[in-house]
Amino acid sequence: MMDLDHPLELSASEMRSLVAAALDRIVAHVESLPRQTVSDTSAGFELAPLLAEPMPEEGVEVDGLLDLLFDRAVPPSFNTASPGYLAYIPGGGLFQSAVADLIADTTNRYTSVYAAAPALAQLEANVIAWFCQIAGYPPEARGTLTTGGSLGNWTALVTARRERLPENFLSGVIYASDQSHYSVAKGAILAGFPEGNVREVPTDDLFRMRIDALEERIEEDRQRGLTPFLIAAAAGTTNTGAVDPLPELADLAARHGLWLHVDAAYGGFFLMTEEGRRILRGIERADSIVLDPHKGLFLPYGTGAALVRDGEALRRAHSLTADYMPGMQNDPDRVDFSQYSPELSRPFRGLRVWLPFKMHGAGVFRRELEEKLALARMAADRLRGMEGIEILAEPQLSLLAFRLAPAGVPEGELNELNHRFLDRVNARQRVYLTPTRLRGKFAPRICVLSFRTHRERMEMALEDIEAARREVLENS
Ligand SMILES: Cc1ncc(COP(=O)(O)O)c(C=O)c1O
Repeated sequence: MMDLDHPLELSASEMRSLVAAALDRIVAHVESLPRQTVSDTSAGFELAPLLAEPMPEEGVEVDGLLDLLFDRAVPPSFNTASPGYLAYIPGGGLFQSAVADLIADTTNRYTSVYAAAPALAQLEANVIAWFCQIAGYPPEARGTLTTGGSLGNWTALVTARRERLPENFLSGVIYASDQSHYSVAKGAILAGFPEGNVREVPTDDLFRMRIDALEERIEEDRQRGLTPFLIAAAAGTTNTGAVDPLPELADLAARHGLWLHVDAAYGGFFLMTEEGRRILRGIERADSIVLDPHKGLFLPYGTGAALVRDGEALRRAHSLTADYMPGMQNDPDRVDFSQYSPELSRPFRGLRVWLPFKMHGAGVFRRELEEKLALARMAADRLRGMEGIEILAEPQLSLLAFRLAPAGVPEGELNELNHRFLDRVNARQRVYLTPTRLRGKFAPRICVLSFRTHRERMEMALEDIEAARREVLENS
């Protein structure tokens, strides 16, 4: 029975029927993912303006609301949970993490302060320790779970700034490659640096930061009286998956006394694989690293991680307290996350990593990631065999960029031709690929990182690419 005086307090049977009604639709939705379209948003554009409405004063039956969501609002979106979503950087969204969120949200414990939920704070501290172990960091490393990679980069930049620069830090200069994710520059700006203090360092043929060019810029800035301060390297760029030369960058950072930050939002969890450890060698020498579990660990959106090698630096940058706060712990084994993060109240993010890791073990994640590396290589091999296809960026991890460049078609016409080519691939709605521009060249990409993407779907991608290639060539 609904409590008419206090309808927000659901009875046991109301809770059960609400969850059951949602679960029916969730399971039907997840089960039909392989058959759903991958990127058809047209009905969404029509529906969206119709949904704008004034604040409702009275409630309505939940069944109608669930119907609206699952029948009309969810389908016409980029289908980021689909096995065919090979666009941007996928992840998929583990159901297990969604269940963890339900538990975290219904128990609604306060995990920012150790004293408020010691056992749960410990579970989140375990997750951070596992990430530090994956990164090859020493026991004194610490970290914080953020909403994503962007705030991870920002957190690391603020930490480095507070650690290495004086209060007037405006002469500090940040170096990132011309392929770096824009959240690095945005993080620097939001951390208070003038926009002009972010240097774009050119890259080599494999889209990796050029050490010689970096060193030149550092020297130039010194001579101009500026303060070179931080190198933001990429361990897997969004454009091509390029991994900057981490050991050389670590040497250079040490030589010049700079903070080395590594944006491993896309590539970092490949460290769980043997091949990934080889490719990302040197990352453990970074002062800070960003990982993005909602990419490489397949979590639903909303979880990134910033790790700092000297955990005390992260704490120094964020620790502040007030008279109304409970006592903070003075024991390094008892973590008050509010002292390591810009946030105070926040969701219990650790559980959405902890539950799937404990249920399945790290080995399952490792094997999934190994499969993604293999699928990207398979795609590259097969594309290489298609006449007129040019690989612009071979997979360094699980991402590659290519284009159609048939003999005899002038360079000036290739971008438009590749627009048409990509539209035709995506029109089949079995896979969704997104493009980038590489030195002016319009380049479709394949990024495989969803736990739902396996060989069968990659075969479909290759079939659709081959069919689109033929159509474009026949019509041009
Ligand atoms: C390399 C890299 N860094 C940072 C980000 C930003 O992460 P988020 O979208 O989680 O904020 C992304 C997102 O794709 C990325 O690929």
